Amino acid sequence: MSRSLFGDAWNTRGVHVGSTRHAATLARVFPMRTTSRGRLGTRELVLRRAEVRDARELRELVVQVTLDAPRTQAIVASEVRDLARYEARIAESLQEPDGLLLVACDAARDRDRGGTIIGELSAKPGSRVRLRHSVHLGLSVASEARGQGVGRAMMEATLVWARSKPSLMFARLACVASNVAARNLYDSLGFKVDGVQPGYFLFEDGTMEDDVVMSLRLREGGSA
Ligand SMILES: CC(C)(COP(=O)(O)OP(=O)(O)OC[C@H]1O[C@@H](n2cnc3c(N)ncnc32)[C@H](O)[C@@H]1OP(=O)(O)O)[C@@H](O)C(=O)NCCC(=O)NCCS
Repeated sequence: MSRSLFGDAWNTRGVHVGSTRHAATLARVFPMRTTSRGRLGTRELVLRRAEVRDARELRELVVQVTLDAPRTQAIVASEVRDLARYEARIAESLQEPDGLLLVACDAARDRDRGGTIIGELSAKPGSRVRLRHSVHLGLSVASEARGQGVGRAMMEATLVWARSKPSLMFARLACVASNVAARNLYDSLGFKVDGVQPGYFLFEDGTMEDDVVMSLRLREGGSA
């Protein structure tokens, strides 16, 4: 393994190993091996693009988050319930040059399979030509892995990836107002609140919550 002054390194199988904070110097981002650190612990992670074979495991994660974090926008969409459609969605994500479906794998578990998936992050460019300079982000971390820097590692690596795409000017996301963990994470990465959509979410118990819309400028240029 070789290590540069910046703390970045590549292992012999071509996997990027090292600090996500310094990965900005590298054009190639994934797969990346890194150690995440949070208030509740650390994890050895492999961050890589989701593959079609991950569909079943990813679906379990999405279902789990929907159940344990009911006051988020996470829902089990119909294409996630239908495995074939979910596989097709993953295959599509692999074809999108300005999009990414990223998984965080706990490298210490299921080593022969390349680790267990404990987080996912989707980054999708706008669907119309005039919206394609923005990438829309959404992420989830398995409940047993939260507070260990996994969400931050995925976000930081994704922002490195996004900044390596010349056509992307903004990262955008939206968040249920009461989701303090997510808001703190986005604030700490430099996202700014663009506005609030009052009563945007209506939950199953009849209560409503505002939607907080946030963005981060990825590069200079343009006139916005
Ligand atoms: C939000 C979420 C992705 C954060 O992921 P995570 O891996 O637990 O977060 P990290 O350990 O990387 O922490 C990153 C930062 O988030 C904030 N944060 C995380 N957990 C927090 C908590 N319980 N309370 C307050 N802030 C918290 C902190 O600012 C933290 O930085 P710090 O460690 O320097 O204090 C995760 O809690 C999750 O998946 N929640 C359910 C789904 C969801 O809400 N998705 C986001 C939808 S907008």
